[in-house]
Amino acid sequence: YEHGQIDGRPRMYTEMLEQPASVERALRGRLDERFATAHLGGLEMDARELRAVRRVKILGCGSAYYVGQMGASLIEELARIPADAEAASEFRYRSPVIEPDTLYVAVSQSGETIDTLLAVEEVRRKGGRVIGLVNVVGSAIARACDGGIYLHAGPEIAVASTKALTTMFVGFALLALQLGRVRDLSVADGRRLVAGLQKLPAQIEQVLEGEERIAQAGTALAPAESLFFVGRVRGYPVAREGAQKFKEISYRHAEAYQMSELKHGPLALISPEVPTVAVVPDDELTDRNVAALHEIAARGGPLVVVTHAGVDLGELAAERIDVPRNERELDPLLLTVPLQLLAYHAALALGHDVDKPRNLAKSVTVE
Ligand code: AGP
Repeated sequence: YEHGQIDGRPRMYTEMLEQPASVERALRGRLDERFATAHLGGLEMDARELRAVRRVKILGCGSAYYVGQMGASLIEELARIPADAEAASEFRYRSPVIEPDTLYVAVSQSGETIDTLLAVEEVRRKGGRVIGLVNVVGSAIARACDGGIYLHAGPEIAVASTKALTTMFVGFALLALQLGRVRDLSVADGRRLVAGLQKLPAQIEQVLEGEERIAQAGTALAPAESLFFVGRVRGYPVAREGAQKFKEISYRHAEAYQMSELKHGPLALISPEVPTVAVVPDDELTDRNVAALHEIAARGGPLVVVTHAGVDLGELAAERIDVPRNERELDPLLLTVPLQLLAYHAALALGHDVDKPRNLAKSVTVE
């Protein structure tokens, strides 16, 4: 079970397919319908301590950092606590100010990433409180933290992380909900989120069932030497993670950009040879995003749009991938899954070994 392919399929593929089950496990026993909240016993923080948090700083590397950005949005939106994510690899090399009323969150699948571990140790040495969102039980980062949330994704072997990332998102949503409900988040909003989280496993299954269409889009993107992945606000970390996955296994240059920044530079590169994968959920920013897509189309840039049914793409000749609707705050998770499949099928079309991408290790444990 630990190594190699299963039924002739790459591990990355089977791990993507396991996501409904791993998300279900990450949620199990942690939702409280009566009080419309989450219970994360492993945090080892009571309501008074949770209420005393004035800022949240999330630290992780690579894809864990991008999911950390999604997590920061969730915490700001639901708990109204200022939150941001930073690459742990950068954080540890500057001289960060460690604040006593900031909650530091280390996020890592392996729990062994050296940059994240050293960032945790630095924060704790200076008196900060760190909790971990970690998959591997008993790993170095889990042991170094004051408390934490295990992700329960199950063993992840493929270098390109998939099922661990979706459980990280769930971990952040649970944390945001619990932080929110000891502060200003209403019962109604708490219920809305609890119900939304419960729907996720079945909705991920629905996205996976749409593989054929996503495979066609991925195969069509494979010949492009260079691509953009774009999104705005909630959609931007999704674009970053989509580009990361694409780079890792297809070896194509995939650059993530904020949709709002396109006109401040990268639009100069748009051409029929440079496709754009755009993340356009149906939310308060849809009109702005569709306007940016028109700018791309006007320059002949091919478009693949990950969106919701009902979003009017007008005359745009775009390849569209619709994901199921949930609560807006939870959209990033469902928008992330098709981008995994997209990268996977582009890499397969190029004949790459998706489980062992060149130059990469599953976890970076040495400096
Ligand atoms: C993910 O697809 C990457 N292989 C990589 O960015 C990874 O997420 C990063 O190295 C962090 O690993 P960790 O979660 O085990 O700490």
